[in-house]
Amino acid sequence: MSIKKQAIRKFQDRSAVIGIIGLGYVGLPLALRYAEAGYTVLGFDVDPVKPEKIAAGLTYFQHIPDERVSEAVEAGFSATTDFSRTNEADALIICVPTPLKEHREPDISFVTDTMDTLTPYLRPGQVVSLESTTYPGTTEEELRPRMEQAGFTIGEDAFLVYSPEREDPGNSRFTTRTIPKVVSGSTPACLAVGTALYSGVIDQVVPVTSTQAAEMTKLLENIHRAVNIGLVNEMKVVADRMDIDIYEVIDAAATKPFGFVPYYPGPGLGGHCIPIDPFYLTWKAREYGVNTRFIELAGEVNSSMPRWVVGKITDALNSASKSVNGSRVLMLGIAYKKNIDDVRESPSVEIMQQLRQRGARVEYCDPYFPQFPPMRSYNFDLESRVLTAAMLRDYDCVVIGVDHDCFDYELILKEARLLVDTRGRVKEKHAHVFRA
Ligand SMILES: NC(=O)c1ccc[n+]([C@@H]2O[C@H](COP(=O)([O-])OP(=O)(O)OC[C@H]3O[C@@H](n4cnc5c(N)ncnc54)[C@H](O)[C@@H]3O)[C@@H](O)[C@H]2O)c1
Repeated sequence: MSIKKQAIRKFQDRSAVIGIIGLGYVGLPLALRYAEAGYTVLGFDVDPVKPEKIAAGLTYFQHIPDERVSEAVEAGFSATTDFSRTNEADALIICVPTPLKEHREPDISFVTDTMDTLTPYLRPGQVVSLESTTYPGTTEEELRPRMEQAGFTIGEDAFLVYSPEREDPGNSRFTTRTIPKVVSGSTPACLAVGTALYSGVIDQVVPVTSTQAAEMTKLLENIHRAVNIGLVNEMKVVADRMDIDIYEVIDAAATKPFGFVPYYPGPGLGGHCIPIDPFYLTWKAREYGVNTRFIELAGEVNSSMPRWVVGKITDALNSASKSVNGSRVLMLGIAYKKNIDDVRESPSVEIMQQLRQRGARVEYCDPYFPQFPPMRSYNFDLESRVLTAAMLRDYDCVVIGVDHDCFDYELILKEARLLVDTRGRVKEKHAHVFRA
C-alpha cells in the first residue's frame, strides 16, 4: 500500500495519533475534538503550564469546562513540552500565534520556529497541517522548503496541508465539529490526506485547490468583518451627529430578507484576528505592487474608535462640569468581546490608557480578570473591583466597554452618575447616559 493510502486509512480507522502544536484558543478545542472522536491525541506547547494543567484534567480557559479536558484525558489526550515526541504523531497540526511586529508587519516566526523544531523528528508518512492565520504563500514559501530540505518529497513520503481555523471562543451556537473546515494541500495527494485528517472530526470539509487559496479564504473572512465593522463605525459617528439611534437603524435594516448583513459598531476592533489579519494581506499585496486602500481605510476608521469614545467620556464629564484630568473612571469589561477571558488587542484597555494619559484615575471591573493581566503594550497594576451600588457611585463616570452578560445592567443604570455605553446596551434615552 502506498504511503498516501496508509496515511488516509489511519485517519479513517482512527488509529492515527494526532499531534497538536500550540494548545491555545485554537489548539486546545481541536485537541479535545479529536480525543472525543476516538483518536489518541498528543499536544505540544512551549509553555509548560498547559501540559501540567491538562495532565491534572484542568482547563485554562473559562469557556472550556474542566470536565471536557478530564474526559479527553481519559480518552487518550496527553500533552508535553518534549518535541522529540512529535515523531509519535501521524499528523502535526500547527496552531501557534501569528501576531504583528512593531511596525505592523507579519510576524510568522512562531510558525517557522515551530517547523524548525519539528523537522529533525519528521518521519515518512506524516502530515503537517498549518492552521495559523497567515498571508497567501506562507505554506509554500516557508514550510515546504523546510520539509524538502529535511529530505522529504511532498505528496509522496510526507504531506503538507493548510487548513485555516474558524474557532469563535464563547460562541455556543457552533462547535469545532459543526463549523465547516476549508482544507488545502501542497499537492493533490496532500489534499487527499488532509481531507481524511479532518473528515473524521468535522462534519463538512471544504476542499480548495491550493494552499494560497485557503490562506486567502481566511483573510477574506476576517477582512470582510473588519471592513463592515469599519463601515458601521463610520455610520455610527454620522448617526450620532444627526441624533439618530444607529442600533434602531441597523435592526430596521436587518429586517430586509436579502442583501443585508447586520454588523454592529463598537469601541474599536479587538482580539487576535480582526485587528491583525488585514495587515497580513496588505503587507503581501505590496510585494505584488498592489495597494489595499479599502482595507486600510477600514483600519483607520476602526482604530480611531477608542479616541472617539474618549471624546464621548470627555463630553459626559463636561456635562457635569468635570474634566477628565482628576476624574475617577470605571471601565466595565476589559475583554475584547463579551463573555470571554481574552484581552488581546482589547479596545477597552486602549481607552483606559488614553484616559490615564489625560490624568484620569482609571479602574476596572471584569469578573473574567480578577487581576489585570500582563500585556505587551500596557501596564496596569490593578485588581477587578466588585460591582456594588456604593462602588458605582464612587466614580465620576462608568464606561460599558464590553457588555458581559454577568453585569447587572439595572444596577449600573441606576447607580452610575454618568454612564458611557459603547455597546448599545442601554436602549432608552437617559440624561446621564451617553452613547459612544
Ligand atoms: N483565537 C481565535 O479565536 C482564532 C480563531 C481563528 C484563527 N486563529 C489563529 O490561530 C492561531 C493561533 O491562535 P490562538 O488564539 O490559538 O493563539 P494562543 O496564543 O491562544 O495559543 C498559541 C499557543 O501556542 C503556543 N506556542 C507558541 N509558540 C510555540 C511553539 N514554537 N511551539 C509550540 N507552541 C507554541 C503558546 O504557548 C500558546 O499556548 C493564530 O494564527 C490565530 O490568528 C485564532
